[in-house]
Amino acid sequence: MDDAAALSGAADTEPATAARRVFIKTFGCQMNVYDSERMSEALAAEGYVETADAADADLAILNTCHIREKAAEKVYSDLGRLRDIKRERAAAGKRTLIAVAGCVAQAEGEEMVRRAPAVDLVLGPQSYHRLPDLLGRLRNGERALVETTFPDEDKFQALPERSPARSVAAFLTVQEGCDKFCTFCVVPYTRGMEYSRPVVALVEEARRLVQRGVRDITLLGQNVNGYHGEGPGGEATTLAGLIRALAAIEGLLRIRYTTSHPRDMSDDLIQAHGDEAKLMPYLHLPFQSGSDRVLAAMNRKHTAAEYTDLIGRIRTARPDIALSTDIIVGFPGETDADFEATLSLVRELRFAHAFSFKYSPRPGTPASTMDGQVPDDIKRDRLALLQTVIDEGYVRFNGAQVGRRLPVLFEKPGRHAGQLVGRSPYLQLVHADADPAHVGRIVDVEIRAAGANSLSGVICGQT
Ligand code: SAH
Ligand code: SF4
Ligand code: F3S
Repeated sequence: MDDAAALSGAADTEPATAARRVFIKTFGCQMNVYDSERMSEALAAEGYVETADAADADLAILNTCHIREKAAEKVYSDLGRLRDIKRERAAAGKRTLIAVAGCVAQAEGEEMVRRAPAVDLVLGPQSYHRLPDLLGRLRNGERALVETTFPDEDKFQALPERSPARSVAAFLTVQEGCDKFCTFCVVPYTRGMEYSRPVVALVEEARRLVQRGVRDITLLGQNVNGYHGEGPGGEATTLAGLIRALAAIEGLLRIRYTTSHPRDMSDDLIQAHGDEAKLMPYLHLPFQSGSDRVLAAMNRKHTAAEYTDLIGRIRTARPDIALSTDIIVGFPGETDADFEATLSLVRELRFAHAFSFKYSPRPGTPASTMDGQVPDDIKRDRLALLQTVIDEGYVRFNGAQVGRRLPVLFEKPGRHAGQLVGRSPYLQLVHADADPAHVGRIVDVEIRAAGANSLSGVICGQT
């Protein structure tokens, strides 16, 4: 018997009425987090309940990320573990289906089932609404299904309604895909062309989330500020327009959005940061490199000076805005001088937060075959240096809050008894002793102490 046949496991012997269990592990960006929630909801309608234990699962889904090599490789080590579980469960007469969703699924397709024969289903990010149907086909004996087309129908419309919110803060995907084709990036290949969901559908979904207890919504998109969805009258609507439509929802207290591209930071969006009270003073705006030569090779379509000017305009509209960014070190051809330019931009612009990465060559992207690939030890040294500069920023930004009063939206109990944890407008975690009734409310907190990753304080009016 070949490995794949052995792994197909025992027949589905469970009675149809017994709850099936699904284990979902999510890698990568927030859009995958959102998609995993929607898949879980689609499966709940089919009688599945979630389990955190893969050994207990009738269906295991890995929702994967292809952005860097490490992220993609993790999937294969997890698949090894799931294969073993599938074998053990088969020996006990239980059937296990293994599905791979997300960006590795989209990028590798058929190749995945060849490399990991235990996989029953490979499902690209645009096809999640087909999940129940595909699972039915697997239960009827079909094997190794691969669904990675970009279908015409809107996956979000075809998914079931949102179930009760899990938290005070929720994600809402408003835009998918990317047409920018930065030369290092797989996203345009894994998520397809830009697509914006219509305003009416989004307002409706946000309203349902709010009815179920959500108070803080983060609008998601690979290029969220390029949003251009259809408005109620058929007109194209910008992200600023969408934010204003959502801000009218009573009970929704805070709106955020991520991830943005500097080129799409339009005047009306900057303006909204100045005058829309529900739009939080936090902006994630990746610049990737401080060197114009590298930016051009990356096809970023902006220079360092244009980025700096943009930040100036945003800070004019909203002086206290907290800025966050993404930076890549060791892009092909990056010299010490290019890297210095990145460091000085980080110092000059005073970011509250930043993600930094070693360049990782991705199959099929133009940069992966460029001359001048940078050796890993140089990338490592540059990353370490960059991270010390970034860490100085965290300490400075968090330290500056000590003594201030911040409106904190409490989300859940903290680690210690009697404590709640919430978020400041600048997305910092804030711990304070507080009545559990404060969950879901905004309460002023006087900040007493700042760490690198969180703040703590006391509720105003208490000592
Ligand atoms: N749409 C967003 C970014 C999505 S990917 C934007 O345009 O900024 C998130 C981050 O991963 C990117 O900002 C980039 O810094 C990093 N990244 C993408 N591809 C990478 C690669 N091949 N190697 C290292 N980092 C990469
Ligand atoms: Fe990737 Fe962002 Fe560039 Fe699009 S804009 S290609 S998602 S880095
Ligand atoms: Fe990763 Fe795909 Fe998101 S590659 S970062 S999961 S869009």
